[in-house]
Amino acid sequence: MTIEATTERHSLGHRMKRKEDPRFLQGQGRYVEDIMLPGMLHAAIVRSPYAHATLRNIDTAEALKVPGVVAVITGKDLEAAGLGWLPTFHGLDKQMVLAIGKVLFQYQEVAAVFAESRAAALDGAEAVEVEYDALPVVADPFTAKQDEVILRPDREKKTNHIYHWEVGDRDATAKALEGSATRVKQRIWFQRCHPAPLEPCGCVAHFDTMGRLHFYVTSQAPHVYRTALALVTGIPEDKIHVISPDIGGGFGNKVPVYPGYVCAVVGALKLGRPVKWIESRTENLTSTGFARDYHMDVELGADGDGRLTALRVSTAADHGAFDAAADPTKYPAGMFGVVTGSYDVPVAHAEVDAYFTNKAPGGIAYRCSFRVTEASYAIERAMDILADEVGMDPVELRRKNFIRKEQFPYKSVLGFTYDSGDYHKTLDKALEQIGYQDLLKEQAEKRARGELTGIGFSTFTEVVGAGPSKHFDILGIKMFDSAEIRIHPTGAGIVRAGTKSQGQGHETTWAQIVAEELGLDPQNIMVEEGDTDTAPYGLGTYASRSTPVAGAAIATAARRIREKAKKIAAHLLEVGEGDVEWTDYRFQVKGVPAKSVTMKEIAFAAYTNPGPNEPGLEATNYYDPPNMTFPYGTYIAVVDVDRETGEVKVRRFLAVDDCGTVINPLIVEGQIHGGLTEGFAIAFMQEIQYDREGNNLNTNFTDYLIPTSLETPHWETGNTVTPSPHHPIGAKGVGESPNVGSPAAFVNAVVDALSPLGVRHLEMPLTRDKVWRAIREAEKR
Ligand code: CDP
Repeated sequence: MTIEATTERHSLGHRMKRKEDPRFLQGQGRYVEDIMLPGMLHAAIVRSPYAHATLRNIDTAEALKVPGVVAVITGKDLEAAGLGWLPTFHGLDKQMVLAIGKVLFQYQEVAAVFAESRAAALDGAEAVEVEYDALPVVADPFTAKQDEVILRPDREKKTNHIYHWEVGDRDATAKALEGSATRVKQRIWFQRCHPAPLEPCGCVAHFDTMGRLHFYVTSQAPHVYRTALALVTGIPEDKIHVISPDIGGGFGNKVPVYPGYVCAVVGALKLGRPVKWIESRTENLTSTGFARDYHMDVELGADGDGRLTALRVSTAADHGAFDAAADPTKYPAGMFGVVTGSYDVPVAHAEVDAYFTNKAPGGIAYRCSFRVTEASYAIERAMDILADEVGMDPVELRRKNFIRKEQFPYKSVLGFTYDSGDYHKTLDKALEQIGYQDLLKEQAEKRARGELTGIGFSTFTEVVGAGPSKHFDILGIKMFDSAEIRIHPTGAGIVRAGTKSQGQGHETTWAQIVAEELGLDPQNIMVEEGDTDTAPYGLGTYASRSTPVAGAAIATAARRIREKAKKIAAHLLEVGEGDVEWTDYRFQVKGVPAKSVTMKEIAFAAYTNPGPNEPGLEATNYYDPPNMTFPYGTYIAVVDVDRETGEVKVRRFLAVDDCGTVINPLIVEGQIHGGLTEGFAIAFMQEIQYDREGNNLNTNFTDYLIPTSLETPHWETGNTVTPSPHHPIGAKGVGESPNVGSPAAFVNAVVDALSPLGVRHLEMPLTRDKVWRAIREAEKR
């Protein structure tokens, strides 16, 4: 692949190469694992081999004899210190830090060992003797629903049911479905999967001589960590300094606070030495935030012309042992209400019931706005099933039911106000780009020869940019975001934001926004994130919220600087402020281009000759978005399926995205390529499986597969631009779009390939053996 890049100075829409890449490409990134402090200890965690068992005894004597081991702590020690439990992110449940009384999932944290080296800590962990009495295991939400075994007797409600959430009009939906000319119903499971960032989670906890905690951690939301640590430990917030250095991928997995972090802080406090805890790949896959695991019963109705009449979705959600889903308080099922997708559905009802099971906790927003991926998959799969039932081309069914351009801002029956979109235009562009008519002809010819070939669509809409403070919070903290910009005397500057890049390229795109607004060189706008001592308070980076929220804060702060710069320009040009205008990235006297000053000149004057104005050139903005943004796209997958082996080859894949104004097309393409690769992995390779005893069967990368360049298809991309009307630069988020939109396109394509055999639905992941079995069973019918 060749990367076409440009280096234009001004700056939105330019394919500027990522400023951070030389550092990463030369191995100069600074990750938590790189942090070495004098006298540092290492922690290792003892984990349960059982999914559900009573803890009879923990014997630490042998572990303490291992050379290098200095201490072991258990749940009882933490409980005595008032630190036995940790609040989960939305504050509706709590999670054991180290097991107290019993274990609730395999690989649960049982004890923490501190030692002079990582090897000694691991040896010590092996030497801890734990006696368990096995208990009956609840391995799925349908068994949990029976309440025959109550998993969480610590809770007031003696049931495995966590919550019921619903939205829409139940009765009107039932009536509309009954009166529909056509109805389809399908159980659709979005399997449990895992973000599996290349760098697993970890931290270093260090109390300095003044008793101040410096906490280096792989966190997507460092400020929230600081507040949570203060609330949980009672350490005053000014005595806590959280630093998220470079992070090697997060994808939602680095949003929650994990038990290992608490153990490291407790160890550092108790032992008076810095403590590092870095989890292994297996620990990451088995105990940190999983994603999805929604069993969705989806029903769609249509009239005789294929116009949608109603949508009903009823979901059983498997939340594992603790309700640690990273959702805003008011939205226990996240943004699942966007399940009507891109379609003008007249009436709908969606409900979610969540259950405890003996599995790892999570339900995090894996490259996803809080369950929007599950919602998008459900509607996009159901549209194909409906198209099959009514005998329509899935493209025509979609086109007929799209929300029309003139309907925006569009209020969906489930409560969202979609900001902008032109779905027909994006679909038409994609059809043209891929050559749909030729593909249909080719498919007919192949089918006539008995070959299995499929074309799959996903015309998804998502909702990103959490969020407006009247609805969105984490632990009660409103989900605004922030930016502080300082322009130095020479016209260079620094932007600090409340977000935290984990590879998304903020060091480049934030500089581009400032450059565009102020006419400065983006190469000399430094971007800093992730240090709570210096960055303004923000809610962090996940759910594609950075551009919609912090991006808006940066543009707004830059505009404040421009307002002040205008006053200084008037002083320098010796005219009234009203006679000055901003044209071509400089201030000039209205109508007199020869009399102008650049922002660089103004910056110097701000510190040397500000006239009647306050010296300095800086501004801060806390941005509370008036609405979410609604990016969307048309994705098309073309697959060939080998009838004999079940192997699926993705021959072509086109993603045409619309994320409003594009800051950096090169970075957006990178985001799309990466997200499509993850969507491909979910569709074809990945599932965190458990057996009936609650044993996790995918504990490393030989069982939980990551696509390499050999498996990954070639990605074709395109875009349309429909700006967000409420965002200062019209940008919507994009990072999660390919992960949200692509699984349905892949599955729709494979089902389309198998449709001549009568196959109407298959559950992900579409492994070779699953597809092979589906073909063999279909042939038997
Ligand atoms: O929150 P997160 O950074 O994961 O997601 P995002 O806001 O969608 O941004 C991902 C990357 O794409 C960032 O570097 C953005 O600035 C960039 N982007 C862009 O260049 N233009 C857009 N309209 C949206 C995102």
